This record gives sequence, C-alpha cells and structure tokens, in this order.
Amino acid sequence: MKKYVWGSLLILLCACSSQSSKLDVDADLEYCEAQVKKSLEVLDDTTKMPRNILSDRNEHVWNCTSIYDWTSGFWPGILWYVYEFSGDSEIKRQAERFSSALYPVLNRKPDNHDLGFMMYCSLGNAYRLTQKEEYKKILLQAADSLATLYDERVGTIHSWPGMRQQQGWPHNTIIDNMLNLELLFWASKNGGSKHLYDMAYRHAQVTAENQFRKDYSTCHVVVYDTISGKRLAQVTHQGYANTSMWARGQAWAIYGFTMCYRETGNRNFLKVAQNAADIYLRRLPSDGVPYWDFDAPNIPNEPKDASAAAVVASGLLELSSYLSDKEEKVKYFNAAVKMLRTLSSSYQSRTVNDAFLLHSTGHKPNGSEIDASIIYADYYYLEALMRLKRVYNNQKVIE
Ligand code: GLY
Repeated sequence: MKKYVWGSLLILLCACSSQSSKLDVDADLEYCEAQVKKSLEVLDDTTKMPRNILSDRNEHVWNCTSIYDWTSGFWPGILWYVYEFSGDSEIKRQAERFSSALYPVLNRKPDNHDLGFMMYCSLGNAYRLTQKEEYKKILLQAADSLATLYDERVGTIHSWPGMRQQQGWPHNTIIDNMLNLELLFWASKNGGSKHLYDMAYRHAQVTAENQFRKDYSTCHVVVYDTISGKRLAQVTHQGYANTSMWARGQAWAIYGFTMCYRETGNRNFLKVAQNAADIYLRRLPSDGVPYWDFDAPNIPNEPKDASAAAVVASGLLELSSYLSDKEEKVKYFNAAVKMLRTLSSSYQSRTVNDAFLLHSTGHKPNGSEIDASIIYADYYYLEALMRLKRVYNNQKVIE
C-alpha cells in the first residue's frame, strides 16, 4: 500500500520538534525492561501468565492466570518487545518459553473471540522477530480456529457464544473483537485462506454500521439475530450503561479501525477511526487518561483506566501516520505523545509493584480489577513507546 510516504514521515518529525520536548522513550523502555526483569525473578511456571496486581490488596507481584484466559498472550508479547528493544538473549529465551507455552490453547474448540489477542500479541511478535516456521504454523491454526466463530448471515465473529444461554443473546459481537481481526488479516497474507481476509473485512464493515452511535461513541456489545442477520440491540457488559461510552471500548474502536485501514486500504475504516478518536479526544480529561467510562456517574470521583490510554496512544501513533493533512496528523500525534507523557510521569508503578503502570480498570460493573495494574495496559504502553521510538528514529511506525 501507498500510505507510508516520506513526506508523511517528515511532517511527523516536524510534529516531534514542535513538541516542547521529546519524550525520553529510551528511559521509559529501560524502565520497562527493568520491571520485566523484576517480574521474571518470580515468574517461572510457563503455564501461568501474569494478569493483574491489585492495589486494594496492596500487592506487589503479579497474580497469574491460565493460558486459556483472554489475557494470556500479553506477557509473551511484552517479552518479545523488550527483547526487540534490548537484544537481551535471556529475555529472548523467556519469550520463547512463554510463547510456546500457549500452544495447547489450540487443542480446545474456541468458545470466544479472544484467540487474536492471545495468539497474535504473543506469536505474532514472535514470528515478526524470528521468522520461525513453527510460530507461523501455530498462527495459521489459530486463525482457522477463530474463523469457526464467524457467522455468514450476520457477517461478524461471534464474540461470546456462552452469552446465548446466559443472556439470551443469539449472536453478539463486542467492540474489542476488532483487535482479533489482525490475526485473520495476517494469516490471509501468510499462506492462510483468502476467506480469512473476507471475513475480517466484512466484520469491520458490519461493526462500522452497527456498533457506533450517531456521535461515533461505541456501545460495548451488539446483539444480532442469527436468522435475519440484523441488529437486535446495542448493550453493554463492561461499561456503565447501554448508552455510555466505555473508555476501553472506544480505545479498541480507534485502534481496531486504524489497523483495518492498514490491512485493507478502505478509507471508510480510516474515517471511522478518526471519528471515534475525535469524540474520545473531545471528552478526555486534561491529563489525557480517561475515567473508566466517560459517562460514569461520579466523575471526577471514578477510577481511571490507564489501559485505555495506552491502547489509544498506540492506535493514534499509527492513525497519525496515515494522514496527509498536516493539522490532523499533528493533532493525533501530539495527543498520543501527551498521553504517553502522562502515563510515564504519573502512572508508572516504579517501586510500588512489578508492573509498568498503575490505575487501570478491568471490569468495574463486576467489581473486578479496579484501580489495578493490568497486563494489557503494560503491553500497549510498551507497544506505543516502541512505535514512538520508531517515529523519533525516522522509521515507519509499523513495518
Ligand atoms: N477485551 C476485554 C476487555 O477489554 O476488558
């Protein structure tokens, strides 16, 4: 595709220099490396993946989860990014150990859409950095497995089949699912079926038509009818209300539609990403880190969600790189840098615990992971820093 033009990079570089000062990305990446090394001192069992550290229990080390949890790919992914940054062979060895520990995930029939998060954040990075055939084989299997959840009539992947029984939702798709499409796009370009591309493309189109409200805020879940394929309802699961803007959901939308533009060249996806970003930025608190839901009732006395800020920062760095209008380009780039600056100056865990960041919110309505360190916040923070480093080095945001 034609979007990465040198002129575009030049504008970004101008944007960098128009910042009052550059973010010290290397210092932040070195901090991440040091935190990972601390974590590795207590994480050895590869059947257990770090997921959260809870502030309300005054914890300092990771609580782990099984390889079947939706978050299991983030830790191996973090190890690969740290290896990419540091070149440290011991980190690479750990990245390999924790990545291959995920293979048994594919021995189970998928019962949700999360295979993309689990396998692409881990093995996608593993393959990108090593080109090892073994990783490619597993990724292709994972994509085929994820594709079994695709419903032809609706045109989307069924996110949570279990909710058919639990909630009476015939078919549901959550906005988070956008991120899982990257695995399908990747597979279709790397020896997998071309149908995987078509499914991902259609999923993005149907989501663009059904998951947004008029103002381009997203709802968390869309329920579809499996007979007509039509939308039945827009509801929430992790947000404050069916009509509210759940911060991480909006973050997944910004990141997901930007990635879909990269993979398809469909300018409508780029527009959707911009629209989703614009309402997010308009409503954002001045420090650049959102409350867990933009419509939560007790703002400013609501928990923040640093994970949403990290996802958005990473997404906006990519979004900015595709725009030729200088003003737009600089707007998203500067917003991303501001978010990272706040995360780095005021949200880092440092000596509090082994994570990179504090103050994320996982599932507020469920009362879980509130004001916590959560592994995916760290993953996207690190990814965003790596992307910003590439911009500062005059490289494409993503190869
Ligand atoms: N994908 C689940 C979440 O964002 O919490």
